[in-house]
Amino acid sequence: MKKYISILLCLVYLGALFACAGDGVTGGDIDDNSEEGLIVVGYAQVGAESAWRMANTESFIAAFESDPRYDFRLVDSRNDPAIQHAAVYDFIAQEVDYIIIAPIEEDGWYEILTEARDAGIPVIITDRMIETSDDSLYVCWVGAAFLLEGLVAMEWLNNYLARTGRADERMNLFHMQGSMGSSAQIGRTSGINSGISGNNNLILRQQQSGDFTLEKGKELMASWLRRYQISDIDILIAENDDMAFGAIRAMQEVGIKPGEDIIIISFDAGRNAVQAVADGLINCTVESNPLHGPRVKENIDLLEMGETPVKMQIVHDGKYFDINNAASEVDNRF
Ligand code: AHR
Repeated sequence: MKKYISILLCLVYLGALFACAGDGVTGGDIDDNSEEGLIVVGYAQVGAESAWRMANTESFIAAFESDPRYDFRLVDSRNDPAIQHAAVYDFIAQEVDYIIIAPIEEDGWYEILTEARDAGIPVIITDRMIETSDDSLYVCWVGAAFLLEGLVAMEWLNNYLARTGRADERMNLFHMQGSMGSSAQIGRTSGINSGISGNNNLILRQQQSGDFTLEKGKELMASWLRRYQISDIDILIAENDDMAFGAIRAMQEVGIKPGEDIIIISFDAGRNAVQAVADGLINCTVESNPLHGPRVKENIDLLEMGETPVKMQIVHDGKYFDINNAASEVDNRF
């Protein structure tokens, strides 16, 4: 009987050991937590603040999870730089093979990335950029040209005002910025500012952050609607679709017709926003492509083959959607 109990205990123990290995959690000091042989990739993502962000996360999950050579680990930093920095330190402690970062803010990366470099872990920056003069801190960057996006928006606005016979009208412009200190905000704001200073008829009345979220966009628009006469608000530029949707709700609650009473421009060009353009609620949305997952993975595949990726990889084709092309493009959007 005793013999059978020992065999049983032995089987239970082995079973537990294999179950753990199947979950990617093993003990011992050989490999802290990956199945042997897998390439471990940690992605410190910004958060889940927008439709763009969700599409970006999904593109990474799909790219890495479809390749059985990879163990992909995702951290949602909830738009908090402290959480994101801690996530990267944690990846270093886990001795992952690669670290991917979509930086919430451009500043504050020197020490962390120096530590990653000293630990021999290649870092790939994606979406937004970091502020550094030392480009040995990262292998490559894959992201959007935010400044150009801002310029595209302002060029569209000038053409639209000319087309609708309003080029000589003095217009009050309200500018809803993204999360301050992020490349998406810095680049788009500087493109928008340069467009405003190039057109004497545009008067910048407000420029404030709505943090890239629908809720804060709605709150900010509602506060502007309390402070200004409706007839004093001619143009709203929101630095992403989600804030534009928040602003649209605030406008509708007080009986304003978005896209008609107020010209609305947004960024990202997600499916819902392109549909809103076709429906006449948004006048133009400027594309920012979120599908960086496969692009970043290709770079890691190259590194695995001992090759060197191109350092700066800009994804920008200058697309925008207005009433002329939105309806036919909705189904092609994320
Ligand atoms: O960095 C890209 C920006 O971040 C997108 O425009 C915005 O929607 C997101 O939150």
